[in-house]
Amino acid sequence: MSRLEQVKQSLDSAGQAHVLRFWSELSEEQQEGFLQDLVLLDLQALKEHCEAACRAAAAPNSCTLDPDMEPVPPEITGSARSDPEVLTRWEDQGLLQISKNRVAVLLLAGGQGTRLGVPYPKGMYDVGLPSRKTLYQIQAERIHKVQELADRRHSSKCTIPWYIMTSEFTLTPTQTFFKENNFFNLEPSDIIMFEQRMIPTVTFDGKVILESKGKIAMAPDGNGGLYQALVDHKVLEDMEQRGVEYVHVYCVDNILVKMADPVFIGFCVSRGADCGAKVVEKVHPAEPVGVVCRVRGLPQVVEYSEVRPETAQLRGPEGELVYRAGNICNHFFSRTFLQDVAEKFKDDLKQHAALKKVPYVDSCGNQLKPAEPNGIKMEKFVFDVFPFSRNFVVFEVIRKDEFSPLKNADGAALDTPTTVRTSLMDQHRRWVCAAGASLLDGDGNEIGARISESTDPVKCEISPLVSYFGEGLELLKGTKLQTPLILDEKTTKVLLGQRGSGQI
Ligand code: UTP
Repeated sequence: MSRLEQVKQSLDSAGQAHVLRFWSELSEEQQEGFLQDLVLLDLQALKEHCEAACRAAAAPNSCTLDPDMEPVPPEITGSARSDPEVLTRWEDQGLLQISKNRVAVLLLAGGQGTRLGVPYPKGMYDVGLPSRKTLYQIQAERIHKVQELADRRHSSKCTIPWYIMTSEFTLTPTQTFFKENNFFNLEPSDIIMFEQRMIPTVTFDGKVILESKGKIAMAPDGNGGLYQALVDHKVLEDMEQRGVEYVHVYCVDNILVKMADPVFIGFCVSRGADCGAKVVEKVHPAEPVGVVCRVRGLPQVVEYSEVRPETAQLRGPEGELVYRAGNICNHFFSRTFLQDVAEKFKDDLKQHAALKKVPYVDSCGNQLKPAEPNGIKMEKFVFDVFPFSRNFVVFEVIRKDEFSPLKNADGAALDTPTTVRTSLMDQHRRWVCAAGASLLDGDGNEIGARISESTDPVKCEISPLVSYFGEGLELLKGTKLQTPLILDEKTTKVLLGQRGSGQI
């Protein structure tokens, strides 16, 4: 039997014969390409995949988790609001681990960013800061700075390898962008990009979606595809060779992310944790974020839709939400835990159905872009490994300092270029004021503390190469700084020179 006959038969038995509907209209070259794609697909598993997608998308919310849920206990929780001496202890521990090359960062950057709606990876997005830096550049500079902080503390010359999980959509443009930008002056061999797997998208009635006449609409398998991708690309072996013991995993879209955060790393290491999650306090019970809690005694992220409103609204003695630990997809893993997951648990991860707008070709061959969700993408989530942890910890951080994600295009109420730009510049204004400087507006009037945080922030941006998290700004004390302000290495030198010459 020919390859085509075999594929036809498998598609038939999976109830997916429509996939070859336009076969005769394809050129020979297109046919060959399509056939290769189809041969690579696990056609045996396709039927099951389509049925599972349909079932998951149709399943009514059963709300069965409530009786089995309990909040994470205080013994396993740390906080960025702890006493300064405690924070310094954790930070010291984190910097020590970094200085010994035991810490890596791992970026989840395989998503399609459909809500933001740009045709390139989200990390390449310029959110409109005065410096016009992209998310990737900000992150690269934070790596530089935290390496420098560790080196200065421990007289080392350390490296934080940067692992970047991409997908078919994001790999090539990300590689090209890094090359064009000279890898942001990081060592190219310390930036390791690898690709996650793709799976077919499915209509609500269980049919694989055709993106064009000779191509199935594929989607990355969710950020929980990380664990399979680690195996596919031997990433854990690479980590082991480099001596990496701890991995900080984060999402591409959080403009405030503290890469390789020494405080978080130090907290997790000093607790002997194999797995940890940073969380922020939920702003209100109905905020649609997952909550880190325990279910039948095991750590888990429970989605907003899996909890009854009355449970989400429960409050403790101080009026605080009982289930307030909002997951921000910012995690600590020991390498050995990742190894365990890769070897024993990765195939047990739950599949979640996401309803998305998937461009498709209709039965008449017309290419269409749907206005409403028309397809199901099955995704695994990175946090679904929490129940496998033997020593799980939670670290609560202050939202305005550490979490502001870019999800939507401007015009949406939340998580837009405007909101993330504002969060960053507001944070930098706070740092400048805390360092004892004041900011001047265009008329030379002091602004500073009287400005409330708003969508029209004071234009004040500090390069991560100058300060990682507000430290090292003593030189600003007593200065009056004109806005818009970009405090980078060059302007810092000028300020230092002026100080030296007594001009300030
Ligand atoms: P989101 O869930 O926000 O998805 O991803 P997204 O793809 O970026 O955006 P939408 O939903 O299409 O608008 C959270 C993080 O997980 C990564 C994203 O790149 C982002 O850093 N991610 C998501 C992956 O790495 N792979 C995936 O398959 C999905």
